[in-house]
Amino acid sequence: MRGVFIKPVSGVEGEIRVPGDKSISHRAALLGGMAHGETHISNFLLGQDCLSTLQCLKQLGVHWERQGTEVWIRGEGMEAWQEPTDVLDAGNSGTTSRLMLGVLAGAPFAVTFTGDASLRSRPMRRVTDPLKQMGAQILGRLGGNLFPLTMSGGQLRGQTFRTTVASAQVKSAIILAGLRASGETSVEEPALSRDHTERMLRGFGVEVLSDKMTVRVNGGGRLTGQDVSTPGDISSAAFFLVLGSLVGRGELILPNVGINPTRTGILEVLKAMGADIELLDVSEICGEPRATLRVRPAKLKGIEIGGDMIPRLIDEIPILAVAASLAQGETVIRDAAELRVKETDRIHTVAEGLNALGAKVEELPDGLRIQGQPSLRGGQASSFGDHRLAMAWAITGMLSKDGVSVEDMEAADVSYPEFLDVIKKVAR
Ligand code: S3P
Repeated sequence: MRGVFIKPVSGVEGEIRVPGDKSISHRAALLGGMAHGETHISNFLLGQDCLSTLQCLKQLGVHWERQGTEVWIRGEGMEAWQEPTDVLDAGNSGTTSRLMLGVLAGAPFAVTFTGDASLRSRPMRRVTDPLKQMGAQILGRLGGNLFPLTMSGGQLRGQTFRTTVASAQVKSAIILAGLRASGETSVEEPALSRDHTERMLRGFGVEVLSDKMTVRVNGGGRLTGQDVSTPGDISSAAFFLVLGSLVGRGELILPNVGINPTRTGILEVLKAMGADIELLDVSEICGEPRATLRVRPAKLKGIEIGGDMIPRLIDEIPILAVAASLAQGETVIRDAAELRVKETDRIHTVAEGLNALGAKVEELPDGLRIQGQPSLRGGQASSFGDHRLAMAWAITGMLSKDGVSVEDMEAADVSYPEFLDVIKKVAR
């Protein structure tokens, strides 16, 4: 058998401190680099994606130091950023790419971006089109849709945008460009996507107006360095919420998990399926709510989800599909065509992977139809280089009859490098 073999477990027990939130870590590094004065980030995610953001910042002349999960950034404002002497490589990271494009659209120099094979196939037009309308010049494959691409920033004009997809990366790129544009920039989205950029910009001293689905900023806002304490990533916690719900016995405690309402779709959906998840010690630090999550085994039943719920759990759909495969009855996920342009085409790869492990999953154009079963056989599945699939198949292995051999398990390093050690520690 190829890959890393994950054997079935009969129970779990213990406390898991999931690593820092990926979206918040990216934003803390970027805003720290844009700000004046020192920014200190604690619990920074050491996944490959966030390290790509730090590396790009270094190439742009931003000074930072890191010790473990703590990062200090010596912010000298964007005036101090320099034209990089080489290509910026965002690796596997859509967030690094799209947010950096927004930040650099107003820079008085040229930058060339690239990434790994997955990133080079992901659509950038959703960001490059609005940035071009604001005044940036962008050249790349398919009219600036695919990496590698080169952007020559410059004088930007504030604009009003209405996006067709609820994407925090698109919204953030436009807002960040808007900070360097003349006048007001506004973005209206069809449903609310994660709002970490808006919250953190306010923390850095910039006025950001939000009204339902619309966000507005004015050009010229000055950022002041801050202390940012990153909560644990609910997208990483989701794997343990599903494991702890469907395993035979035991209890998992997950302290300090971010519970920003734009991200808590997974909690609501798992609870509606019957999960026994409790929120303890709720608090708010640096504008981001957090809580300790406690999960215990429960019988799950199928559910139908779609609409505004989807952006609130988009990254958790692979592991939610695992839960649905072991729930009683049918689950239908609709309005999630965005999954097709994630690190892999997750509608296709989730269906193919789960079916190979004995599940009954049908691909829909914009989602998945899943028939739950009392147990899954297991077998062999590949991550196809997608971190969330690697972890979803590992959890399936723990919950299966025969275990799962996960090909390319290392993909998990993108967001959760310690994942394998942690599952070994809590398995009983
Ligand atoms: C992210 C936004 C989401 C999400 C991604 C992280 C962010 O992507 O899937 O993992 O940090 O802004 P989209 O904005 O493309 O929906």
